[in-house]
Amino acid sequence: MKHTFTTPIIDTIAEIRNRIRELKNKNLIIGFVPTMGALHAGHESLIEKARQECGAVIVSIFVNPTQFGPNEDFGKYPRQLEADREICSRHGVDLIFAPEPEQMYPQAAGPITTVVPPETFRNRLCGETRKGHFNGVATVVLKLFNIITPDRAYFGKKDAQQLLIIKKMVKDLDIPVEIAGCETVREPGGLACSSRNKYLTEEAGKKAASIYEALKTLEKQYNSGLDLASELISVSGRILHPDIEVEYFEAIDIENFQAVKKVQKGTLIAIAVKLGGVRLIDNIIID
Ligand code: PAJ
Repeated sequence: MKHTFTTPIIDTIAEIRNRIRELKNKNLIIGFVPTMGALHAGHESLIEKARQECGAVIVSIFVNPTQFGPNEDFGKYPRQLEADREICSRHGVDLIFAPEPEQMYPQAAGPITTVVPPETFRNRLCGETRKGHFNGVATVVLKLFNIITPDRAYFGKKDAQQLLIIKKMVKDLDIPVEIAGCETVREPGGLACSSRNKYLTEEAGKKAASIYEALKTLEKQYNSGLDLASELISVSGRILHPDIEVEYFEAIDIENFQAVKKVQKGTLIAIAVKLGGVRLIDNIIID
């Protein structure tokens, strides 16, 4: 489909700052959606929410090297800037900020200052296997906030730990931005949309649907009166396809990030698995 508007792609910090100054001079509320690209329906829902709530919408597309471990998929992470631009244009995104790594982390700068979230937040769940991951995320998000200076920034609840860490950072460091958490968008079979779903074969995609089935089963069990976390998790874990390797499946108190013995309203049920070499995460909050 052709659009009358094509979203400009800006790749330098100096230029995006100029453009944002222009938008601010028009008194527009700046909405910001940070992404690593390979945009899908989940990202689109964040963009749409920003579009509804803000006068100007900025999307960043940056596959951030510092949040990938040495054996992770940084090199093969999907990159499709033109297709992403098409999606952004369709949603009326004002500007895309898509810097090269050298722009964000100049070699000449040497080692840089890093944001380190509290240990209880950063070393649990995804942080247990992805050492340093949340330092990389917090640092790049703070850099992006300082570059874009948004009024509101939109994050998905699919990455629940990331969302909680960003909210904590914003509060602790008095960053003048409002964080909006957005519901998880799913494929028709229930699998949470993710840029990494592209790596799944059709067959693996079907098996992966059992992840959300397990979460829903747990919720159903809870609603039928059970609340012992270990039992709920072991019973609903049996719903997972046998080819799925569980990295963690836990009931967590979102206030202190500790595992809970009893599930209750507001408990985060988070899961990470590997299937056919692809790492997938999902979660629900009990309500
Ligand atoms: P990325 O994985 O591209 O995700 C960008 C944003 O989209 C995140 O806030 C994520 O939670 C949200 N998102 C992803 N899948 C979603 C889904 N199915 N439903 C709703 N929202 C979804 O998360 C990152 O990039 C990076 O860590 C980043 C924050 C950009 C820092 O590099």
